[in-house]
Amino acid sequence: MIEERGGVVLTAAVLDTTDGDAVVAYTEVVLSDPAGTRAIQYDTVVVPAHRGRGLGSAVTRLLRGRLGELHPGVREISTIVADENASMPAVNEALGYRRERPAGIFRMKLQRPCAEARWMSQPVDAPEPVSRRQCWRRRTKSSKDSSSGQVW
Ligand SMILES: CC(C)(COP(=O)(O)OP(=O)(O)OC[C@H]1O[C@@H](n2cnc3c(N)ncnc32)[C@H](O)[C@@H]1OP(=O)(O)O)[C@@H](O)C(=O)NCCC(=O)NCCS
Repeated sequence: MIEERGGVVLTAAVLDTTDGDAVVAYTEVVLSDPAGTRAIQYDTVVVPAHRGRGLGSAVTRLLRGRLGELHPGVREISTIVADENASMPAVNEALGYRRERPAGIFRMKLQRPCAEARWMSQPVDAPEPVSRRQCWRRRTKSSKDSSSGQVW
């Protein structure tokens, strides 16, 4: 979807080759404008059995190096980390990220559309058999549906 809109997604992964090629660490960077100066880092994950060995830092450094080679115009990388995340702030600080501002993150759960709702695939001028309003219902917001984080 990002690429369909003209953006670029770069990924870096570490493979454990001892028993096939299993991905054990992963991160990605998104540029909504490949010629722009800004990128966003998402989804840094190391599988639990391999944490604490430097892979989270290594995969991020690797991707940053490739980003510099492929998109030398990038001057800023941002990311968001949840306050309750115990390890990612240390990874980010070691890599040179600095906290910029707090952020509130909210989530609203939507029920699946009703079986007869076909509005998503209909031509624009077709009458909708069931409206979005009828098919999607807001669930009461609970304390689990919000959290806080930091923009780095
Ligand atoms: C966050 C995560 C990617 C870190 O990967 P990792 O390979 O364990 O991290 P590293 O071994 O590269 O450690 C990097 C630094 O973080 C520190 N660190 C790692 N785990 C830590 C922990 N649980 N508590 C405090 N510091 C920690 C290390 O000491 C190291 O600092 P140092 O270089 O000064 O010694 C990994 O824990 C993970 O996948 N977590 C779940 C997914 C997640 O939360 N991703 C981030 C989403 S924003």
